[in-house]
Amino acid sequence: MIDGQKILITRKYPAAGMDLLKKEPFQLTFWEKDRPMTPAELAAQAKNHDALLCTLTDRIDQPFLARCSHLEIISQFAVGYDNIDIPEATRKKIPVGFTPDAMSEATADIAFGLMIAAARNFFFLHKTILTGEWGYFNPTGHLGFELKGKTLGILGLGRIGVKMAERCKSAYGMTIIYHNRNRNLSAEKPLDARWVSFDQLLKQSDILSVHCALTPETRHIFDAQAFKQMKPSAVFINTARGPIHHEPDLIQALNQKQIWGAGLDVTDPEPMAPDNLLLSMENVCVLPHIGSGTMEARDQMSVLAAENIIAFYKTGRVPHIVNP
Ligand code: DGY
Repeated sequence: MIDGQKILITRKYPAAGMDLLKKEPFQLTFWEKDRPMTPAELAAQAKNHDALLCTLTDRIDQPFLARCSHLEIISQFAVGYDNIDIPEATRKKIPVGFTPDAMSEATADIAFGLMIAAARNFFFLHKTILTGEWGYFNPTGHLGFELKGKTLGILGLGRIGVKMAERCKSAYGMTIIYHNRNRNLSAEKPLDARWVSFDQLLKQSDILSVHCALTPETRHIFDAQAFKQMKPSAVFINTARGPIHHEPDLIQALNQKQIWGAGLDVTDPEPMAPDNLLLSMENVCVLPHIGSGTMEARDQMSVLAAENIIAFYKTGRVPHIVNP
C-alpha cells in the first residue's frame, strides 16, 4: 500500500514517469543538480529514504548497500545494471527493477548508424571539411566499403541484438551469426541466424556488434587476442558497455590495421577525454553514450522505472525485476 513512502530520485528523469509517481501519495525527493550525486551524497540522501530511483551513473556498490540496507526497492532507469551490486542487493533482500526493451529500437538505430559511419569514415571526413581539407573530388581517396551481403556477428542476441540483426538483414541482406551463452532459438528462425563459438564469431564477422551485458565474463572480452582473430576488413561496434572492450588493445588493433574500424557509443571511462587517441583515428566514430537517447525511449524508460516502484508498493511485485 502506498502511504507516504519516501522515494529518492537521483537525476532529472523525463516527466512521463515522474508524473505517475506524483499522482501517488509518496514523498518524492528530486536531486535537482545536472550532475550525478557523489557516492557520499548518494548514501547520505538515501539513508533517509525508503526507495531509490537511480541510473547507471549512481554507484550502488557494497559500501553503499551496507549503509542503506533499509532500502525497500531500487528502481534502475536503464536496461543495464552493472552499476549495481546485484548479488549484494539480493543478499539484503532488496528487489532491483530495470527498464528492459524501452530502448531496444533506439539503441539498434545507433549501432546501425555507427556501422555505416565507420564503414564510410563519416566522422573523420566531416573533420576534413571543418579544417579546410576537403580539396577536390578525389577518385581514389577516402574509400569505404559496401555493406550489402556482408556477415554481421552479434555478441549477445537479446532484445537489442535482434533489432540490430533485423535492420542489417532487411537493409543489406546480411548473413547473421551470433554468440550467446545460451542459444536464442526463437530469434534464430526469423533471422536465419546461426550460433557460432566466440572464436568463430571473431573470425567470420565483417561487422561485429556488441549487445551483451557487462559481467565479469564479458569485461575486456575484446582484448588483443580477440582483435587479432578478426578480419582486417572488420568493423567493431560497441553500443553496450565500454569495459567490454579493452581500450588500449582496441587502439593497437586499429593502429596495426588488424581491423578496419570501430563505432563506439560507449567508452571506458565515460566521459572519454577529448584528447583520446581514438578521436583522431580515421575509421573510428565515437558517440557519447546516446543509445537510448530518443524522446520515445527515455519517456518509456521513466514510465517503466516509475511503474516498478508503484507496482511494488501496491502489489508487492516488481514487474521488471533483475533479481526475482
Ligand atoms: C541502458 O539502458 O543500459 C543504456 O546504456 C542507457 O540507457
